Amino acid sequence: MNPSSSSYVRIFDTSLRDGEQAPGASMTSAEKLEVARALARLGVDVIEAGFPAASPDDLAAVQTIAAEVGQAPVAGRPQAEPPIICGLARCTKNDIDAAWQGVKGAKHPRIHTFLATSDLHLKHKLRMTREEMTAKAVEMVSYARSLCADIEFSPEDAGRSDPEFLYTVLEAVIKAGATTLNIPDTVGYTMPDEFGALIAGIIKHTPGAKDVIISVHCHDDLGLAVANSVAGLRAGARQAECTINGIGERAGNASLEEIVMALRTRADKIGLQTGIDATQLCRTSKLVSRSTSYPVPPNKSIVGANAFAHESGIHQDGMIKNAQTYEIMRPEDVGATQTMLVLGKHSGRAAFSKRLAELGYPLEGDALLKAFNEFKKLADRKKAVLDADLITLASDERATV
Ligand code: KIV
Ligand code: ZN
Repeated sequence: MNPSSSSYVRIFDTSLRDGEQAPGASMTSAEKLEVARALARLGVDVIEAGFPAASPDDLAAVQTIAAEVGQAPVAGRPQAEPPIICGLARCTKNDIDAAWQGVKGAKHPRIHTFLATSDLHLKHKLRMTREEMTAKAVEMVSYARSLCADIEFSPEDAGRSDPEFLYTVLEAVIKAGATTLNIPDTVGYTMPDEFGALIAGIIKHTPGAKDVIISVHCHDDLGLAVANSVAGLRAGARQAECTINGIGERAGNASLEEIVMALRTRADKIGLQTGIDATQLCRTSKLVSRSTSYPVPPNKSIVGANAFAHESGIHQDGMIKNAQTYEIMRPEDVGATQTMLVLGKHSGRAAFSKRLAELGYPLEGDALLKAFNEFKKLADRKKAVLDADLITLASDERATV
């Protein structure tokens, strides 16, 4: 994958910053370092390692990640450049200094600074006029640029901001030295067509936008974070901010694995690529789940335990004949072990007989029919029929013939 190609989408992972802001998801420095290593192996382009002004511990974790992951060759990908290591800062000198202290030990450091642009945030939270906000953003972006060559600016709550005002602010921060403009739908409010139009409008009406990377950062309050991110990418954004398993504030952020696999599975329609090694997705998902103590729901897309499991007889019969009947991705493509034909009350004889043969208890004819009838009775009583139950059924049947 060529990062300078116009169809390349940079994957900016913020599991260690926005993801860690999920209630109760905080990680120790050692856990953060392990996750950062896994993210580098996965092939993310940017790791947002933390918010260094938030606490001395967060600063120390970002510094360690900058030195150990942001400098070293990537395990399993020795030719690859280390990822960009990014630290978040509010638009204050103190925060920007802390972010710089955090990331400056990386080969490719980035400072990410943000200030809200919606009238709601300006009036009630920041108590600033639009003019004061623009002046502050320009002052702090140029200060950050005096420290670091790679500066990202986010107009917080862009999804609810006046687009005309956004164009003015964005043009002003580009002139002040911003190199990436990240457009957050901070509260997950927009619809995919609206968010796509917002990105298209920014590209069209902000003259300097052609010289910078436009990024999307969507939250999942209405369950639309991935759809909105994909809409923004299709409208011209070339960086997606996301988290493993979609962890993050409130309902979470756009899920990395879903964005990556949507782009890959529907490359025919979308025509965009990432540099992610998708075979690392399940492994990284499990690590983040363990480190944050956030379980992955079984029905979670791509990485859930049931993402490649089939229970109904009709589906199992189709799967036995050709896996493409009910799977649009291969489990091995995302690092999942294998397709599972789960035996329950909806299962058919084909899957039942196949599983018995795999367990070393092949049955045919009447014996198979009788064992299958017993299995259906058992499946009505139990939620899941285990291999041990099947072996008992098959053994009983063999004993009677
Ligand atoms: O959701 C948001 O607006 C953020 C910004 C700091 C980018 O996380
Ligand atoms: Zn966010």
